[in-house]
Amino acid sequence: MQLIKLSATDSTNAYLKDLMFNNNFGDFTVVMAHTQLKGRGQMGTNWLSEPGKNLTFSVLVKSQDIKVSNQFLLNIYVSLAIYETLSQLHVPDLKIKWPNDIMSGHNKICGILIENILSGQHIQASIIGIGLNVNQLTFNNLPNVSSLKLLLGSSFNLEELLHNIVANLKSLIGKSREEEYKRLFEQYEARLFRKDKPSTFTDHNNEMFMGFIKGVSSGGQLKILMEDNIQKEFNLKEVRLLY
Ligand code: BTN
Repeated sequence: MQLIKLSATDSTNAYLKDLMFNNNFGDFTVVMAHTQLKGRGQMGTNWLSEPGKNLTFSVLVKSQDIKVSNQFLLNIYVSLAIYETLSQLHVPDLKIKWPNDIMSGHNKICGILIENILSGQHIQASIIGIGLNVNQLTFNNLPNVSSLKLLLGSSFNLEELLHNIVANLKSLIGKSREEEYKRLFEQYEARLFRKDKPSTFTDHNNEMFMGFIKGVSSGGQLKILMEDNIQKEFNLKEVRLLY
């Protein structure tokens, strides 16, 4: 694994994306930043992280031969790799909030932003951005956010954690074949936040509705059992889980 350590950059995802075309970066090249000036979150949001306290890094993955139609698998690999790393540290009540937030109880501790470079029907490369709250103790009144230090009471070595996550990711991607996909989906679904619990959502018109999370489709849509007992599938922009 090649590790590029930056003291400051706008976003490690943007850094990798800009440089990968002109540099022959190998598979699993990692860029980590002490400070991100314009950290990016999902759906155009910002990712804020206190300089030097947390992990903000991106991994370039080129080896996997994934069809665009199966791209949700990447979310599964990454979520499971982080879940595995954190469960070894005994982080309490770990769950994966669809599509790929890592939660401890009701608090988010890690966010993931995956950007794919496509070539026809295949994914040519993926930039997997990970923001894991590690040693930060205050979050400016952001609700439902936590860190490993807040949860476990001790500080963690950032690079050691990074190596564990990347090793788990490598091993999951390395041994995964099409026949394994079903098992990975099952593992992911078993760890889903609020699975089978009565939950409140809003739809794309901001209207509230009740339902039960049942799992994800092969395309990565969230399957919700609605009050009328009909199961529907939702894309990321179509639904928001409130509680
Ligand atoms: C989210 O939950 O909204 C996703 C957050 C992803 C943040 C990470 S930090 C490292 C990488 N670089 C970025 O600009 N974003 C990702």
